[in-house]
Amino acid sequence: MRSIYYFFALTFLVLFHGPVNSQSKNYEKQIDSLLSIMTLEEKVGQLNQLPLSWDTGPSSPEGDKLKDIREGLVGSVLNIKGASKTRGIQELAMQSRLKIPLLFGLDVIHGYKTTFPVPLAESTSWDLEAMENSARIAAIEAASAGIHWTFAPMVDIARDPRWGRIMEGAGEDHYLGSLIATARVKGFQGKGLGSLDALMACAKHFAAYGAAVGGRDYNSVDMSERMLREVYLAPFKAAAEAGCATYMNSFNDINGIPASASKFLQRTVLKGEWGFQGFVVSDWGSIGEMIPHGYAANAREAARLAIIAGSDMDMASMCYRKELTGLVKDGVVPVSVVDEAVRRILRMKFTLGLFDDPYRFCNEGLEASTLSKPEFRAAARDMARKSIVLIKNEAETLPLKTGKKIALIGPLGKSETDMLGGWSVWWDDNSDVVSQFEGLERRIGKENLLYAKGCSTRGDDRSGFDEAVNTAKEADLIILTIGEDRDMSGEAQSRSDIGIPGVQEELAEKIFALGKPVVVLLNAGRPLVFNRIAEKADAVLLTWFPGSEAGNAIADVVFGDYNPSAKLTTTFPRTVGQVPIYYNHFNTGRPSPDDGPSRNFRTGYTDLEQTPAYPFGYGLSYTKFDYSDLKISSDKMKEGEKVEYSFTVENSGKYAGEEIVQLYIRDRFASVVRPVKELRDFVKIKLEPGEKKTVIFVIDKEKLSFYNDELDRVTEPGFFDVMIGASSADIRLKAELELK
Ligand code: GLC
Repeated sequence: MRSIYYFFALTFLVLFHGPVNSQSKNYEKQIDSLLSIMTLEEKVGQLNQLPLSWDTGPSSPEGDKLKDIREGLVGSVLNIKGASKTRGIQELAMQSRLKIPLLFGLDVIHGYKTTFPVPLAESTSWDLEAMENSARIAAIEAASAGIHWTFAPMVDIARDPRWGRIMEGAGEDHYLGSLIATARVKGFQGKGLGSLDALMACAKHFAAYGAAVGGRDYNSVDMSERMLREVYLAPFKAAAEAGCATYMNSFNDINGIPASASKFLQRTVLKGEWGFQGFVVSDWGSIGEMIPHGYAANAREAARLAIIAGSDMDMASMCYRKELTGLVKDGVVPVSVVDEAVRRILRMKFTLGLFDDPYRFCNEGLEASTLSKPEFRAAARDMARKSIVLIKNEAETLPLKTGKKIALIGPLGKSETDMLGGWSVWWDDNSDVVSQFEGLERRIGKENLLYAKGCSTRGDDRSGFDEAVNTAKEADLIILTIGEDRDMSGEAQSRSDIGIPGVQEELAEKIFALGKPVVVLLNAGRPLVFNRIAEKADAVLLTWFPGSEAGNAIADVVFGDYNPSAKLTTTFPRTVGQVPIYYNHFNTGRPSPDDGPSRNFRTGYTDLEQTPAYPFGYGLSYTKFDYSDLKISSDKMKEGEKVEYSFTVENSGKYAGEEIVQLYIRDRFASVVRPVKELRDFVKIKLEPGEKKTVIFVIDKEKLSFYNDELDRVTEPGFFDVMIGASSADIRLKAELELK
């Protein structure tokens, strides 16, 4: 009897979805017919995601993966790339009874082959269009190489630079972070899933992973639901509104529940309140980690807790593969719960058009003609230039003039791989990356550029110091390139000391002692403490990890072909002891004056100024911008009204440049305490020397709203400070607003 049933169902399936255009939005009938003929084992298989990056032999930790794929017991694989390789694995899946295509996932975080600056660097461009384009190019390249799904954007708000993964996000502010999350989701998903150049995006890590205690990766998070909703969920909500196809839950426990088992996050908020129709994947092994969390006694319990909580796909823990079938057969987990998860995954496979053609992303010719296109490299160079922050420029040291002999000194000067930063896609050969040395050499010629490594980023080997000093002596000016290497930030790279590692500062002291002009390039994936360097250098450029076009972009900025415009999206502390420190903090009942150590029973430290080394929104330019002539449409706002703030920005310097103008508000009194400043708008404007532009910001009620103690999104009548400036600490124009 069953075979007849299968026959009709399969016929229906083939007839119904054979010619179906994958752009059609409603696949529920096809999914119903497929579910009706799937065995329980095949259903559970769809919820099983396996890594194929390394050992795929039968003795691998996850068993004989290729056999499981052939038997239709795997729904997705991660960490293989290339049209040819993915085709080969998809062919195995097509040997299964129902031929359900695999999803291929990969961490395409800031570029696939053309690598862009690390995400935190990109965020300092405040250029939403450029960030969307960066994600768009990553998607075009990755999709041409057989990838369906990127585990990006990482949208975790982070206020603690000890946490290595601050590198992967968009900084400390949820207003900016939400806009960047939206831009990156749109970039990855492009014209829509099903397009041959679109990737499924994945908002991660859900949720509040960036608030891990002590900045220690994978560690606990505990906060009020109000703070969670106000700050940490905001970018995830924005991603949902942008149509993000998938979410990845996080390793951390949050308010006592491991995120992978959080019904509140996955069912109440994401699938309930936000109406999310895609699917949730766990983070690597996080379902099994409920056991060390002390939340599940064993893999069976972990599988039950996760599936009930709405964690649809199990990345690499094997808990679903080993336990879920039994849980359903034992009546512990209703098959309907499994069906709902399978439905969500099948829905995305139909949407991608994989049932029409499982190999539609496996076109080797397209791959070869797509990767590293000149226009992609040009976009990466442009993004990198826009991501370099001018921290200091004493006596207009920069931009440099050519014709001088320059010594490039430091461990990152000739490195190619380090320029890619953490979470770049792995390639055996990175010779296409433009190193800092190459970029400078192209600009000033071999004869004008000397180089010495001096030391490593790690360890205490000082044997290269003498050569570095002697090389520097031969030059008119030194470019000292120091900081972290690419592996010092990213996952599992939390550091208790966020200073310049190794003996690089000792090297710097010897270079400074020569009394020549020194420009420092600060390579980092996080805010660093570098007070002594900043004090002695004539100029400092925060270059982060700029990607494939690193050397060219750095040369563009150093020699003034591009006037740096980037502004910090994370606060840089004076010492690690200040952490966590962020601009949108509460005032407290005993605020300290910003000008020095705390005293007279006020908050802060008695041994340190209260202000950070460099605040949120900080970044210098080769030119100067003046703000003037503020006009407001009203100092009162009634229900449904808006207020306009019009003012003039003038480039009063001698270089053309871009200014990121920022709008902050402060709600002076409310039913819950409010931050001393909240970013509520910004605009990036380009001005020629002497040029003026009128800028207009508009404030409406939404911009004054917050979550109250009852967790309602509200605005409350009262008085607000409205502040316009060049950074959170450089307010140029002020006004008062009364909300009636
Ligand atoms: C890692 C990371 C996550 C990544 C996943 C797949 O552990 O936490 O961000 O997407 O595993 O590589």
